[in-house]
Amino acid sequence: MDDDALLAEQMAYYRAGAAEYDRPYTEYEDLRRLLAVVDDLPIAGDVLELACGTGQWTALLAARARSVTAVDAAAEVLALARARTASPAVQFLEADLFEWQPPRRYDTVFFAFWLSHVPPRRLPGFWDTVATALAPGGKAIFIDDGPAVAAEEEVLTNEPAPAALRRLDDGSQYRIVKVFHDVRTLTDDLTALGWSARIKPLAGNFIGIAEPPTTPG
Ligand SMILES: C[S@@+](CC[C@H](N)C(=O)[O-])C[C@H]1O[C@@H](n2cnc3c(N)ncnc32)[C@H](O)[C@@H]1O
Repeated sequence: MDDDALLAEQMAYYRAGAAEYDRPYTEYEDLRRLLAVVDDLPIAGDVLELACGTGQWTALLAARARSVTAVDAAAEVLALARARTASPAVQFLEADLFEWQPPRRYDTVFFAFWLSHVPPRRLPGFWDTVATALAPGGKAIFIDDGPAVAAEEEVLTNEPAPAALRRLDDGSQYRIVKVFHDVRTLTDDLTALGWSARIKPLAGNFIGIAEPPTTPG
């Protein structure tokens, strides 16, 4: 089964719901605390942020980076991210990450709450793209929801990829891809692809730091 329709619906959800996106960041103390972990992570040099959303992480990354290139497919969330982020070191790009190829290499590739939106069959290709985007010695750093968070979602079955149903304030409903990665399995999967990964659970989330198999010359 093809997951294109699911991915299109996922993008439509974020475009239509841009104005509602920041609500959990105001409502949940845990999420605000999670943002502070940036200061303990090896963010360095030129940073590529994938699926930056409304820029909750972008300014925090910029404070530790030489530059940040922040990519998202939804113009509506990018407008909010631009308004939130004053740093001249940040460049925002509108692109579909299932098609976009990084034009250069970065010291850090960061993605928060994006990995769970990548369908499993696309993961090897996704990790290849991340590896290609990394400069020698570079690191991928990622944060996402662990399996415990599944209890808070309306999980769907019989979809072309693990999926959940999200609702917006106007009652509209959208299917999104949602893979609740287990730390052990994700570590094993990355190891099998040749990555060297340390992934730690943190409350219901996990934080990963990974180095690619070989940095293409
Ligand atoms: C869960 S949000 C994460 C946003 C941000 N990283 C954060 O942690 O607050 C997922 C983001 O992925 C973006 N997105 C969805 N499909 C995409 C695609 N195909 N290419 C690029 N971004 C996409 C959405 O617009 C949304 O901003």
